[in-house]
Amino acid sequence: MEIRYFDTLDSTNKYCKLLNPNEVEEFLVVLAATQTDGIGQAGNHWESESGKNLTFSIILKPTFLLAEEQYNLTMAVAVAVHNTVTQLLHEEQVSIKWPNDIYVGDRKICGILTSCQVKCNHISQAICGIGLNVNQTLFPEWVPNPVSLRQTAGREFNLEKVLKTMLEEINSCYEALKTDSKCIREKYLSLLYRKGVEAWYLYRGEPTRGTIEGVDPFGRLLLRRSDDSTLLLCGMKEIQFSTPGQRPEDR
Ligand code: BTN
Repeated sequence: MEIRYFDTLDSTNKYCKLLNPNEVEEFLVVLAATQTDGIGQAGNHWESESGKNLTFSIILKPTFLLAEEQYNLTMAVAVAVHNTVTQLLHEEQVSIKWPNDIYVGDRKICGILTSCQVKCNHISQAICGIGLNVNQTLFPEWVPNPVSLRQTAGREFNLEKVLKTMLEEINSCYEALKTDSKCIREKYLSLLYRKGVEAWYLYRGEPTRGTIEGVDPFGRLLLRRSDDSTLLLCGMKEIQFSTPGQRPEDR
């Protein structure tokens, strides 16, 4: 596994996108101590203090997946990051907030951004960008619900060791995905944040009370609306989670 270390990049995902896929080996890891233009979900900026956290991308070539099975990869990487955080934090309650944020309690410790290229209806290459809050203790106010390993465990973590654990977990979940994707899916569903717990959401802009029942094979969230028991199939742009105890419009 090749690891390319950079002091500063605009974004490790952007760097990987510029590489020629035919000249890139699977499992190339690109890591930057500082990102000047880190990207998050929905085009948001990814905030990470220089040298304190892990911000890296890994290139995978999951040609065994059909284009419509992209969500399987999302699940495998989320389970791998979940396993890493659980190993490092032992007792803490770690979960996967749909679709692929990693939470400790009600706070976000890691974000994942995956983009796939498709050839002949198979995924030819995937760039998985991972931002894990490790030793950062102060976050700007605009970052919603952040937390780091250090804040949770009360001690500093060695970034190299955390990276090693993470890469081992990614490798192992990726192998499991090849042989037994059902097992990855079951694990993912068992770790889903707020599954089976009634809570408030903003669904298509409307405050909606409901209970998460799972995720369909395309990665849409299944939310059972409380007032009329309708099962809502939610895409990324259709739903927002509220913080615990709050109706979304109170935020
Ligand atoms: C999210 O918004 O939850 C996804 C965040 C993904 C951030 C990581 S940091 C490394 C990689 N490079 C980027 O520019 N983004 C991803």
